[in-house]
Amino acid sequence: MSKDANLALSYPVWSPDNRLLVPAGTPITEAIVEEVVQQGKKAAFPSRALLAHGSVRDDLLGFLREPPYDFIFAEHDPKRAEVFRLIGDLNLVLPVLEILDHFRAHDFHTYRHLLLVFALSTLLSVDLVPESKQRTKEPAGAGPTHDLGKICVPRTLLHKSVPLTRSERALLQHHTLAGHLLLAYYFGKHDHLAARIARDHHERLNGIGYPRGIQSLDPMVEIVVVCDVYDALVSSRPYRPVSFDNRTALEEITALAERGEVGWNVARALIACNRRGKPHYDELQPSTEKRGVPPAGNVYGATAKDGEDGSEAKGEGSNGGNE
Ligand SMILES: [Fe+2]
Ligand SMILES: [Fe+2]
Repeated sequence: MSKDANLALSYPVWSPDNRLLVPAGTPITEAIVEEVVQQGKKAAFPSRALLAHGSVRDDLLGFLREPPYDFIFAEHDPKRAEVFRLIGDLNLVLPVLEILDHFRAHDFHTYRHLLLVFALSTLLSVDLVPESKQRTKEPAGAGPTHDLGKICVPRTLLHKSVPLTRSERALLQHHTLAGHLLLAYYFGKHDHLAARIARDHHERLNGIGYPRGIQSLDPMVEIVVVCDVYDALVSSRPYRPVSFDNRTALEEITALAERGEVGWNVARALIACNRRGKPHYDELQPSTEKRGVPPAGNVYGATAKDGEDGSEAKGEGSNGGNE
C-alpha cells in the first residue's frame, strides 16, 4: 500500500442520493475509508437477493443466450449450475440494486457488462479459486459491481463514441476510486472484496495499470481484470460499434498474458471454457499465433488532446481502454 500515500481523489464522490461522501482533493487513507464505512453503517441499508430483484435473472439468462456466452455457459454444463448456485446465494443492499436499475434504464451497455463480467468471473473462480467451494459467498460476494463507480461519471462521457481527451480520461478513471468508496460505504467494510475489485480492476501485473500501479493482485481481482477486458472486446461499445470476434478477443487476452499484464492461469482458464470439450486450464496450451483481425473504427484506448474533438487521436494500448 506504499503507493497509497500519493493517492488523492481528483473528483468528489457523491452517493446517488446526493450525499457528499468524500470531497475532491482528499487523500485516500485508511482513516478516510473507515470514516466512509462508519457513515454507511449508520444508514443500515436493507438487502435483497440479486436474482430476485426486478428483471435481473431474466436479463442475465438472456445475455447468456448470446454468443460467445451461449457456448461458455452451455445449458447442461455443471459449472453453469454451480455459478447460478453461487450467484443465487447473493444478497445486495438496496442502494446497490438501485444503481443497477439506473444503469439498466440509462446505460444498458454498463448494465449488461456488469452482469456478464460478474457471471464469467464467478465461473472462472470455480476452478481458479478452489476455496470458493467452501466459502461460497466470497467469490460471488463481489457482486455485479466492478464498474459501479461509473455512477459518478457523467453519462455523456460514458456514451462518447470518439476518443476521450486526457482530462475526460482522468474523470473516467475516477470510477475506480469512486467505486471503492461507494462499495465500502454500502457494504460497511473497507476491504470488502467488491470494494477492492472496484478499485483494482484496471491494475495490471506489470504495474502499468491505475489508480495505484500496483503489481500484486488478489486472485479474484486478477480474474475480474481478464473478464472485464474480454467482455469489453466481445461486446459492442459506443466507441466501437462492431465487437471483436471471439477468436480475436481470445488472442488479445493471450497477448495481455504475453506482455505480463495478466496471469497465464486466468488467461488459460478463459480460453479453456471457450474450447470444445472444455479442458481443465492447466492442461491447455494457448496458441500464440495471431490470426484475428480487430474490427475497423475501434477507438478503444485512444486519446485526443484536450480541446480537440478526437480527430487526431493517438492510441495508448489496451490499458487505456474505456472500461
Ligand atoms: Fe472499469
Ligand atoms: Fe468494466
